[in-house]
Amino acid sequence: MKKLLACMLALLMAVALCVPAMAADNVVIGFAQVGHESDWRAANTNDYQTTFTTENGYDLIFVDADNDHAAQMEAVRSFIQQEVDYIVICPVQEAGWEVVLQEAQDAGIPVIIADRTVSADPSLYTTFLGTDTALEGETAGLWLAEYLDGKEANILVIEGSVGASATLGRTTGFNKIAEEHPEWKILDSQSGDFTQAGGQEVMESYLKSYAGQFNVVVCQNDNEAYGAMDAMDAAGVTYGVGGDVIIISFDATKEGLTRTLAGKINCNVECNPLQAAGVLDIIAKIQAGEEIPDVTIVPDEAFVAPGITSALAQTMTQELLDGRAY
Ligand code: AHR
Repeated sequence: MKKLLACMLALLMAVALCVPAMAADNVVIGFAQVGHESDWRAANTNDYQTTFTTENGYDLIFVDADNDHAAQMEAVRSFIQQEVDYIVICPVQEAGWEVVLQEAQDAGIPVIIADRTVSADPSLYTTFLGTDTALEGETAGLWLAEYLDGKEANILVIEGSVGASATLGRTTGFNKIAEEHPEWKILDSQSGDFTQAGGQEVMESYLKSYAGQFNVVVCQNDNEAYGAMDAMDAAGVTYGVGGDVIIISFDATKEGLTRTLAGKINCNVECNPLQAAGVLDIIAKIQAGEEIPDVTIVPDEAFVAPGITSALAQTMTQELLDGRAY
């Protein structure tokens, strides 16, 4: 009997701890996040969790898909079963969304695609909000052209996660500019999975295959750049302002800009993770029966290290860094 009572108490406690308190008339949002691969992602998750609060009238059901497309689709299916009011997806990969988006549409649940795009027909979801990653890639390429001013570039690229629209967009945008420069050569382009460990691993292998042959490394996010720097430090390769290798990074997180201000990253192209307020605005408009745009682009800037002036980017200062929220 004592054992049974203890079990029942444990069960009640587990239920109390695991099920988030939900207010009856709150709007319920199912949020399928990519994972926790980068500092950018942590800032993006934090932004959602501090924007969609119970006090603000929202119950956010958060699922971290750990960079797994199948797990993310299952999360969306569980949101459909729970009959949430809205589904927000930051897609791990661009392809393969048609069936589950159709299921959400059949259930009458509006879907907001955020951060990264999907290749599914736009009629299958309500709206997209995120940055223009192809433009981010182009900005990086245009900055390199401005900086090198006709000099040769032997480029190594550390791409993001395979199949993610952020990877595809940045690669397409940068390659578009590279094609206009016969004096540039992209020696190799491999995935570092948007992680520091991935960036380090790819750079270590590049250092073996291309020792002394490259003068530019393009890292498709800040964490990959930190890993690449660790690998170059260990190999005695200098980088940044005054170094042998130019480093371009994406994201412009606080740590990324700290390293840009220190001259370790030459150019850092922003990808703004503060997107939750825009998503909240869209949901509020749908709730009020107002029109919403099909696409909302979150604007980005670019930043260069002290000593570099650019028509495309701001030169980093301590003041700029101090004002950085993420
Ligand atoms: O989709 C945005 C990208 O995903 C960011 O550049 C990267 O840091 C993140 O993991």
